[in-house]
Amino acid sequence: MAASARIESLIARMTVEEKVGQLGVFADMVRPFAPDVNPEANVRNADEVLAQVRAGRVGSLFNGVGAELGRRIQQVAVEESRLGIPVALAADVIHGMRTVFPIPLGEAASFEPALAERTARATAVEATAAGLHWTYAPAVDIARDQRWGRGAEGAGEDVVLGCAFAAARVRGFQGDDLTAHDALLATPKHFAAYGAVAAGMEYASVDIAPQTLRDVHLPPFQAAFAAGAISVMSAFNDINGVPASANRGLLTGILREEWGFDGVVISDYTADMELVAHGYAEDDRDATKKAFLAGLDLSMQSGFYAAHLPALVESGEVPMAALDEGVRRMLVLKERIGLLDDPYRSLDPEREADTGHLADHEALARDAARRSIVLLKNDDAVLPLKKREQRIALVGPFARDRENIEGCWTLFGDRSRYEPLEDGVRAALGEAAASLVVVPGCDLEAPVEGGIEAAVAAARDADVVVLALGEPQRYSGEAQSRIDIGLPPAQEALAEAVAATGTPVVVVLRNGRALALTGAVRDAQAILVTWYLGTRTGSAVADVLFGDYNPSARLPVSFPQATGQQPYFYNHPRTGRPELPTMSEFKARWREIPNEPLYPFGYGLSYTRFEYDAPRLGTTRLGWDDTLEIVTTVRNVGDVDGEEVVQLYIHDRVASRVRPVRELKAFEKVAIAAGGEVEVRFALHRDALAFTDADGVRRAEPGLFDLWVCANAKSGEPVSFELLASGVSAAP
Ligand code: NOJ
Repeated sequence: MAASARIESLIARMTVEEKVGQLGVFADMVRPFAPDVNPEANVRNADEVLAQVRAGRVGSLFNGVGAELGRRIQQVAVEESRLGIPVALAADVIHGMRTVFPIPLGEAASFEPALAERTARATAVEATAAGLHWTYAPAVDIARDQRWGRGAEGAGEDVVLGCAFAAARVRGFQGDDLTAHDALLATPKHFAAYGAVAAGMEYASVDIAPQTLRDVHLPPFQAAFAAGAISVMSAFNDINGVPASANRGLLTGILREEWGFDGVVISDYTADMELVAHGYAEDDRDATKKAFLAGLDLSMQSGFYAAHLPALVESGEVPMAALDEGVRRMLVLKERIGLLDDPYRSLDPEREADTGHLADHEALARDAARRSIVLLKNDDAVLPLKKREQRIALVGPFARDRENIEGCWTLFGDRSRYEPLEDGVRAALGEAAASLVVVPGCDLEAPVEGGIEAAVAAARDADVVVLALGEPQRYSGEAQSRIDIGLPPAQEALAEAVAATGTPVVVVLRNGRALALTGAVRDAQAILVTWYLGTRTGSAVADVLFGDYNPSARLPVSFPQATGQQPYFYNHPRTGRPELPTMSEFKARWREIPNEPLYPFGYGLSYTRFEYDAPRLGTTRLGWDDTLEIVTTVRNVGDVDGEEVVQLYIHDRVASRVRPVRELKAFEKVAIAAGGEVEVRFALHRDALAFTDADGVRRAEPGLFDLWVCANAKSGEPVSFELLASGVSAAP
């Protein structure tokens, strides 16, 4: 890779220690967000960190915040170190900085990538004002097993949805000029197949067909790179026996040689060190050598590169040219984000103090939050609630909660602005709030004395109960795999008791994954899925409860009937023994339940109803190089305006490898006025029909396809078309 003259001149002047220094990423103990998060792993105090910066031993610091002290770090780097190379300041800024937006999984439920682009932009504005250049986001892992806790950080189980959100978030974080003071460098992660860990257990191994890797788990990374990402984080897991962080086939073969990626690969936290625990490296030195030679440019937090690369270069086991190439990539990255020209970019205390953007970001947080809420059930139109002449009991451990608003991975949220559910409901009710009764009923995970009695009494006196239940937020995120994706028993007991009063119940769920709903929760009159919605939680939920916003989100993950169905994903391959309506013995099903989800991927209701005409195809004989035009009329046949997520699925009837029962290929959210209709148009090219074949070649195969334009992964009637072989005329 050729770099600018100034970078080549720097490399020519650097000692081996300074080169290795550029590849080191360490906790920012100069401006830490919390006291030693991991004292075992090389965390040092501010003076030591600054001394290392002065000595040219630090390329990048992470998870500190603050413009003033950021300037101090940069001053030491630029004015007091021998070569004056600025430090890149990074952090985990995942779904908001001070203003917190919905967790990424929740926001994916909006099916509006443009919304994710806007919230990522707002996040970038706040993060760069707080002295950051670089975020370790977006997480683009496809999560097909809901036991895994990190599904909360991604966009769910589907690859097309995942690609759209990956690209949107990269565009939002970075803006259109990487050197701008408010551009936040994005880092898609975790490369790769982290979401495919066996049994959904965090950090477990990944045993995966190369075709599944390529067709499901890699595309969101490609989408992120196409959108402009120039760094990527390696995953903790192994892939078919080779840890991702020392996987040359992945980090060099696929990433650089096949895709031409010219950015930087950063390790996940101590992932190089973990090669020893994996049993893939003999010792620390061997781990360093294997990781670096595989293509892992930056070492996060282990200190392994600093400790072992110089000797490895000295012995010739790591060629100096390889070290130079890693350093070159890091310096090019710094140049591309404008640091070499302006080391003090994004370190402006005045900008940090300026709250001029806050009102806009708060409004966006509320809109993003309500657009992420999925209405799963609404029997007898119990929702929307009335603001007058309806006695409402707000029951449940999340009614007043302030501790489970931000969801996983919020390091820097401004907690003083978090809005509990009760506050939002009270504000919506105005004067009528005087009659609102609020009863927690139980704690998040345990009963409280007299709790159920108080809740039952409140339910008896009410016309409707809003029952705020869910997972504590620490049940999702890193290292939070679950064996049972149901609600804590204390909450289920509360739900049973409240439901037994006969008062209609609206369950408002807080969750970081798809849940297996049972009993009174499953059978409630209405169910809203609200994930963790961030700063404006209360108002956003109230907007939906009272119909000030008509819900428009759809599930980005299938809700199973039981945990034992996991991994469950709608686009599973066909079986030779599908379950039939007339016969279930000796068919692919569970003993206890049919193999259907409780609520499928793409599902969600509105306060209005939509009807679809059959899709009209431009042709039923698609030429090899032609584009298939698809038009469907969608009508709002209800009484209120609404938004529908129109989804296009295909199915390849016969292929050289067993194909999924359905695959999402396109989607569009459209607003339709009550009584109105819109024509929704899609265009499909052969590429959308392709898959990786037995030889590892991605290609479409001629033949018959089914196509649905419909409301979710289980609805609609298919039409069919034929993809003609290359050279066959499309004329009938
Ligand atoms: C470990 C997590 O897996 C990763 O997502 C994160 O960016 C790093 N820690 C740094 O905090």
